[in-house]
Amino acid sequence: MKRIGIMTTGGDCSGLNTVIQRVVTGAMRRGWTVIGILDGTDGLCASPARFVEFTYDTLPIETARLAGSWLHNGHAGALNYETAAATGRLNEFNRRVRKSLQELKLDALILVGGNGSLSLAWENREIYSDLSLVCIPKTIDMDVPLTDSTIGFDTAVQQVVNFCDQLILTARSHHRFFVVQTMGRDCGNLALKAGVAFGADVILIPEIKFDIDELVYHIQEQPRDYGIILVSEGIRIRGHSGRPADIISRKLTAAGVVNRTAFPEHIQRAGDTVASDRILAVKMADAALNAIENNETFVMTRVHDGECDTIGLAEFFAAGEITSDPKIPNMHTSNAYVSPDDPLLAVAYNMGIYMGTEE
Ligand code: F6P
Repeated sequence: MKRIGIMTTGGDCSGLNTVIQRVVTGAMRRGWTVIGILDGTDGLCASPARFVEFTYDTLPIETARLAGSWLHNGHAGALNYETAAATGRLNEFNRRVRKSLQELKLDALILVGGNGSLSLAWENREIYSDLSLVCIPKTIDMDVPLTDSTIGFDTAVQQVVNFCDQLILTARSHHRFFVVQTMGRDCGNLALKAGVAFGADVILIPEIKFDIDELVYHIQEQPRDYGIILVSEGIRIRGHSGRPADIISRKLTAAGVVNRTAFPEHIQRAGDTVASDRILAVKMADAALNAIENNETFVMTRVHDGECDTIGLAEFFAAGEITSDPKIPNMHTSNAYVSPDDPLLAVAYNMGIYMGTEE
């Protein structure tokens, strides 16, 4: 009989509720108790900690497909690493989290988070030293090292494709282009996959340098007078500040290309969870429970060569590109980016999609 906790941290995405629901199902089948911590670390910092004890119908199967997190991911004033660092309360924060975990008498904690949360968990690992910590990677950015899939990514790709599917109809009516800006803080995976799936004329991602005049020329040379230019929010354009889609739109307008901008924004984190994300969520929930059963700790679930297993958080940290956290002193994040060997890049180039300078 084990008593386990689960919490969702960082930005939400579709698929979180499927993970939670399946963790509860699998754990209860084993006779375990599952505690859901509310608002991530903020719930742990409260005294007493804010949590719910799950029963089979707390999060029923019919709501598991819905986006968002039933457990919440934190509010504006929430106490997390960032806000604790900003207010000089990091030590107090660490102490409170560890104390709550002890008071809750948890054997294990499943942390469903992105690369930021996983990095912070590893860098502050003494907080979790009284229990088994098993992480499940989720993000629409696909910037977590060592895993081929993250929960929420496929649904986000579908959301961007749906958005472009709608825009292209009005684009054709008015003989104009749309410059669509996707999320993906520093990583271009979402724009790349969605752009190829939709059939964008241009895909710009932070990993590939591009020339704005080449881009304009490429659009002027298109056989159609309407289409989609997909721009990842993380691209930088030398000499300009502001939203990349706005900058590109102005350049196109100046060159006589009729266009509008469009921003799907947080709709990318919404949408009913697509089947592939649900399968991933179930596999990762199962792998996490197996890891707890085997007394593993400081591991994350991952997909590698089509198989779902666990790998040490230390390896996740060693494999990624390490950057300093701009908001938390002495903390680092392990990041993944679009690989120059990604076969989808060659496909995109072969299809005549402008992506910048071909290496
Ligand atoms: O990391 C996930 C993400 O959705 C990024 O793609 C985006 O830059 C950011 O979070 C948006 O965060 P917020 O919800 O705080 O606006």
